[in-house]
Amino acid sequence: MTGRAASVRPPDPPRRGVRIAGTGMLLPEDRITNADLEKLMETTDEWILQRTGIRERRRVNPAKGESCWTISAQALRGALADAKMDAADLDLVIVATVSTEQACPSTACRVAGEIGAGAAGAVDMNAACCGFVYATNVAHDLIRAGSYRNIGVVGCDTLSEVMDYSTEGRGTAILFGDAAGAAVLRATDDPSRGIIAQAMHSDGTSWRHLYIPRRARDFPAGAEGKKLGVMYMNGREVFKFAVTKFCDLIAQTLDRAGLTPDDVDHYVCHQSNARILESARERFGLPQEKLYVNIDRVGNTSSGSVPVCLHELRSAGRIREGQLVMLVAFGGGLTWASGLWRM
Ligand code: COA
Repeated sequence: MTGRAASVRPPDPPRRGVRIAGTGMLLPEDRITNADLEKLMETTDEWILQRTGIRERRRVNPAKGESCWTISAQALRGALADAKMDAADLDLVIVATVSTEQACPSTACRVAGEIGAGAAGAVDMNAACCGFVYATNVAHDLIRAGSYRNIGVVGCDTLSEVMDYSTEGRGTAILFGDAAGAAVLRATDDPSRGIIAQAMHSDGTSWRHLYIPRRARDFPAGAEGKKLGVMYMNGREVFKFAVTKFCDLIAQTLDRAGLTPDDVDHYVCHQSNARILESARERFGLPQEKLYVNIDRVGNTSSGSVPVCLHELRSAGRIREGQLVMLVAFGGGLTWASGLWRM
């Protein structure tokens, strides 16, 4: 026989799927009701409820030893228990947060150490209120590509620590509360499971509409008299951004997946303001049961928002295997992101 043997290309490894094997959450016990805020600033329960839909929020209590990393660790422990896994099974821990206590180490390292995740990788991601959606998109693709099998993702913020609870800060402080939510992502042999369309966006030119200054040089022009370590938000600008981007993002994600709004079983959305959620529900003609709302009980919990909603829906048995679930968020940066999951 002459000639070269036909080159034989090894078969592609089977495409992996990714599933959400477990979820968990931790809401601190201490509450801040609208009545509490009435005592701290010039505001009313009626004003807050009508503009935001919020009745109360939770708040970490440092006197009880609570902080971003302690509640993150508790949420991830819950997600591992739900997945019937040990911390030592994790290959990587990602914590999405803007509330990390120290610049070094990361919150993720504290969490991995606390829960006993051995030598698992640990890293924080900061995409403000979009953090959990960014982090699950990245974790999903790391598993899909075959590099990792089990990744713990936490979304946690403790923004009560950077609120100005005086009348000066009332436009922002009424919105935010503290929470941690977590999910364990696992490789599965079923390639149909996992993210079927995702998007991650930012507009860094609009950063000044929502920021937390640490040093004098962090202030934008015209911010004289403002304090360090306090969150500042231009509510009207963020509202305009959110209403437009939220709806455009849902439309873009559906378009990428070749689906219509009715095809999706649940929209798990960042709880920024009840009016913003309602505008998306109306635009896409969604029934109330498809767009979960818990903002009345917890406020806007930034990175904690989407994973807490996800956990509440899963633990109520409302999210089932095979369903289509879209995670959607937007926030400081400015950032906006989505992930459409086949559960
Ligand atoms: N109680 C009473 N009055 C308040 C108040 C409060 N807590 N906060 C602001 N006001 C006053 C303002 O001082 C202003 O008074 P003036 O007209 O005499 O100047 C008036 O109410 C209107 O203020 P404005 O900031 O325009 O209110 P708004 O209708 O835009 O509502 C938000 C404020 C924050 C509720 C709204 O802008 C919002 O939800 N924005 C989006 C925020 C968001 O989603 N952020 C998170 C992104 S992740």
